[in-house]
Amino acid sequence: MKHSFRGLIALVSSLIAIAFLAGCDTNTRMSTFDTKGPIAEAQLDLFMVTIWVSLFIFVLVGSVYIVAMFKFRERKNDDRPLPVQSHGNPLIEIGLIGASILLLVIIAVPTLRAIWYTHDFPVTEESKLGAWYQGEGLSAAEEDKPLTIRVEGYQWWWGFAYPQLGITSANELIIPAGKAIRLELRSKDVIHSFWLPRIAGKVDLIPGRSNGMWIQAGDSIEDWQEKSGATGSDEELRAAYARYLQEEIHNYYYGQCAEYCGDSHARMLFRASVVSDDDFASWVSEIKTGHQAPDDMAWEDWYAANDESPEKLTGDINEGLQLFMSRGKCATCHAVNGNPRAVGVAGPNLTKVASRLSVAAGWLNHRAEDGSVDIEQQYANFFKWIKEPNTVKPGNLMWKANGGGIGELEELLTDDEIHKISLYLQTLK
Ligand code: CUA
Repeated sequence: MKHSFRGLIALVSSLIAIAFLAGCDTNTRMSTFDTKGPIAEAQLDLFMVTIWVSLFIFVLVGSVYIVAMFKFRERKNDDRPLPVQSHGNPLIEIGLIGASILLLVIIAVPTLRAIWYTHDFPVTEESKLGAWYQGEGLSAAEEDKPLTIRVEGYQWWWGFAYPQLGITSANELIIPAGKAIRLELRSKDVIHSFWLPRIAGKVDLIPGRSNGMWIQAGDSIEDWQEKSGATGSDEELRAAYARYLQEEIHNYYYGQCAEYCGDSHARMLFRASVVSDDDFASWVSEIKTGHQAPDDMAWEDWYAANDESPEKLTGDINEGLQLFMSRGKCATCHAVNGNPRAVGVAGPNLTKVASRLSVAAGWLNHRAEDGSVDIEQQYANFFKWIKEPNTVKPGNLMWKANGGGIGELEELLTDDEIHKISLYLQTLK
């Protein structure tokens, strides 16, 4: 009897353990335990302090409870008197209050320190734009300032504007490694929350106000040197630091809106690519330049041809662009840099959309194992997104009537038209 009871307990506890472990995943793309930056690290440290203090209380109270339960439980023919009652004993009462205060202070001090740390932007020479950004389009007034990115929340996608560099992107945040970056968080509709678990989070985006936070992917050179204990000449240190950034920090990170914001809140994802200074500068320059018209035509010529005799612009890509500009109504809401007539701002900016590794705010993924774009999957995702936006992301504006979207087209786009638009979009890389 006793045996089978133990067996039962073992079985039940293993089942519970398995159920808990099923939530674990060796894939740490969104793990707050695998940090890649000082903010996430500060938050993890704080979490661990809280865990240890809670565990201490749990074990202490639990053991007293168990001892009391066994030692003082009533036995058969028990004629022992009641044990001495300590209720109201001033020494114990004051002692317990004192212990609780002490434990709260142990948690409060690092909490306040972390709050100030994440709130105060570190003023470092390294992070000033003038110190590392070698690309074009930077006014002298901005050289002494850190990179600022305006994050805009929409139902259900993310706008990322870089006002100092004069560019706007969406859903994939591109940032240089090792630089402290200021984020300005705003919302165009309801409350959202920016959360990039391995690097930083979470701060709300609230309509009508601008919240701030700073993020940094990877350590600054000083912190890295302190942690790694690296020594050498200035040049050697810089090279080793660059290697550290490249090997451990340059990566593709997953983010998520962390505040319930309507039907498709769970599908409001974003991505972050952490890159080298040079790659960042060339990305900025490509976004600024935007795209040519198909067949390497100048936009003026393309529009002249299109306005005059559109049937002469042949091929899937030309037809895809024509549909993008006219029947598909895509350009009403989406901008494509370079194209003078595609300047919509209601939806994500589509410049270089084919270089992004996902579409529909991170929901449809086409990142291959090796980190490149899976072209076939990308086509399938574009097609699906345009064909049935309301299935992919219920309630979104591209579909909704009041968004002037696809659901309102007099006649829905045919599969062949969607095919051509998808092919055209795939040229935007
Ligand atoms: Cu945006 Cu949840």
